[in-house]
Amino acid sequence: METLSSTVPGPVISSQPLDRAVYDATYKASIDDPDTFWADHARRIDWIVPFKTVRSVNFHYPDVAIEWFADGTLNVSANCIDRHLAERGDQTAILFEPDSPDEAAQAITYRDLHGRVCRFANVLKALGVTRGDRVVLYLPMIPEAAVAMLACARIGAIHSVVFAGFSPDALANRVDDCGAKVVVTADGAPRGGRVTNLKDNVNRALNHAAVDPQVLVVKRTGQQVAWYEGRDHWLHEMEATVPADCPPEEIGAEDPLFILYTSGSTGKPKGVVHTSGGYLVWASITHETVFDYRQGDVFWCTADVGWVTGHSYIVYGPLANGATTLMFEGVPTYPDAGRFWAVCEKHGVNQFYTAPTAIRALMGQGEEIVAKYDLSSLRILGTVGEPINPEAWNWYDRVIGTGRCPIVDTWWQTETGGHLITPIPGQIETKPGSATLPFYGVRPVVLEPSTGALVEGNPAEGVLCIADSWPGQMRTVWGDHQRFMDTYFQQYPGTYFTGDGCRRDEDGYYWITGRVDDVINVSGHRMGTAEVESALVAHEKVAEAAVVGFPHPIKGQGIYAYVTLMQGVEPTDALRKELSDFVRAEIGPIAKPDLIQWAPGLPKTRSGKIMRRILRKIAEDAPGELGDTSTLADPAVVDDLVSHRMNRG
Ligand code: WT7
Repeated sequence: METLSSTVPGPVISSQPLDRAVYDATYKASIDDPDTFWADHARRIDWIVPFKTVRSVNFHYPDVAIEWFADGTLNVSANCIDRHLAERGDQTAILFEPDSPDEAAQAITYRDLHGRVCRFANVLKALGVTRGDRVVLYLPMIPEAAVAMLACARIGAIHSVVFAGFSPDALANRVDDCGAKVVVTADGAPRGGRVTNLKDNVNRALNHAAVDPQVLVVKRTGQQVAWYEGRDHWLHEMEATVPADCPPEEIGAEDPLFILYTSGSTGKPKGVVHTSGGYLVWASITHETVFDYRQGDVFWCTADVGWVTGHSYIVYGPLANGATTLMFEGVPTYPDAGRFWAVCEKHGVNQFYTAPTAIRALMGQGEEIVAKYDLSSLRILGTVGEPINPEAWNWYDRVIGTGRCPIVDTWWQTETGGHLITPIPGQIETKPGSATLPFYGVRPVVLEPSTGALVEGNPAEGVLCIADSWPGQMRTVWGDHQRFMDTYFQQYPGTYFTGDGCRRDEDGYYWITGRVDDVINVSGHRMGTAEVESALVAHEKVAEAAVVGFPHPIKGQGIYAYVTLMQGVEPTDALRKELSDFVRAEIGPIAKPDLIQWAPGLPKTRSGKIMRRILRKIAEDAPGELGDTSTLADPAVVDDLVSHRMNRG
């Protein structure tokens, strides 16, 4: 048996022997007989009517259909709250740390949470929300965000959380796509000492949305807001008028729990649909296993609830497991770059889960600021969102974990519901930069990108697909099952295509190499290049635009835009800023281009297709690796782009 590189003694699991045999045996059982394995493990949640059928899966285009535990019924909110009341009603469920360290933290017990969710659910009912209706949540990172999600789950409504950093336009598109009956928001969102006027954004979004939802407003900052009588309602006023109790509805395992919009390589963002039973089993088992969550631990995932990470590892996984989950409203650098560590010390955090971009940013602030805090409560460190470079991994291990905390580099996606490839502490030895091995029940395969042929043996390199379903898998794209099949099941028949490239080393470990499609990963946030392009060309001075990613030291990838202006428009720095701000307003700050290069022409094939491969190489400052440019309609445009390239090393 091997041990992890544990140098500092302490009551930590990394000082215990690593038992790879446990993983190997459990994994084998999960693959040999998934029906038995998942029938057993699905008992970790409470069913109203127990399921008889474990799974019914067809991965073959064009008949893709995925069901888990389909004849079972349950209520997700009862699983996350009610069933814990007898044993841990007085335990903290949600620990809320506000943006300002001067504002008191709040400890919300499971009993408090029950009361708040029941009232909220009754408010939704009073607004006419019933089973199957959609409710859009556009909220700060405050307890009401979790309360609203659970309240929807309680009555069988489908929530769609929209990240509060998205613009009014982006919000309007999502409200329309899902046909929201209610939008829940707050007056304002404090973040990093500044306030975003969320209610204002909702007003603007609904001004040009096609549907006409009611608006429920949480009072967070107390600021003035423009009010629309008949449409807008204060949460606290309505709560005073509704009954305190709301019995959970009986929901089918395959009834949708939520829709979450995510960017793809083409078109507008798609509404990823997750259902109730399988998703909850997956969020719960991965949260407990991958983070070695033990009763009484304080778990902190720093993501925003607007992303899937927040859904699965702030709300559903932890609460299904009766955990104490920390919700942080602020940012890592406010009031200073020690905030994460101050919060870890203040609340005695045991598991800390963040993104490589945050680690790299804080790494740049030096070790002195970390040394001010007592981080001895930390036991497990996690990362998610993008490949982590070994330098950042080693810093995280040495400076934050002092060599005694296993690091779990968890690879997954909005579509997967929870972790798919990840170390399991105490079972799988880590390697810096590798997400290591598949979680129980997950069957990764590496395919040759152009032919789809299976690459067998180790080492291997190619595109990453998953050969069979797992309970937490997305089921469809909201309102567009064809798009679901086309995106994930058409290109490599019989498997789920992840969109990522990967390498599998001689030990069978997976190393994710990044997206192979036109999706870029900016600070762990997924952005479709097509979305940024369509925002740019919506500007009156822009004739054409092509967007690619380029390596960025902190963000992982930055956004590089090539812009062709309309005839006669002067290319100036002021216009660069104008275009950046325009994209920001159309989509949100995360979509703002880092670099804009004026392009008199774009490299196109004779059939008019933009050759992005070439644009990527120029953006990477690798003009020597352009490859064959002879098929271009006008090879000369490349020379101009190369000589004016903006990212010079
Ligand atoms: C894409 C999914 C899963 C929640 C956060 C992002 C990349 C994610 C890792 C990792 C390497 C990673 C992939 C994936 N990604 N985690 N540990 N190592 N790459 O969710 O917005 O749906 O993005 O993020 O490229 O496809 P998402």
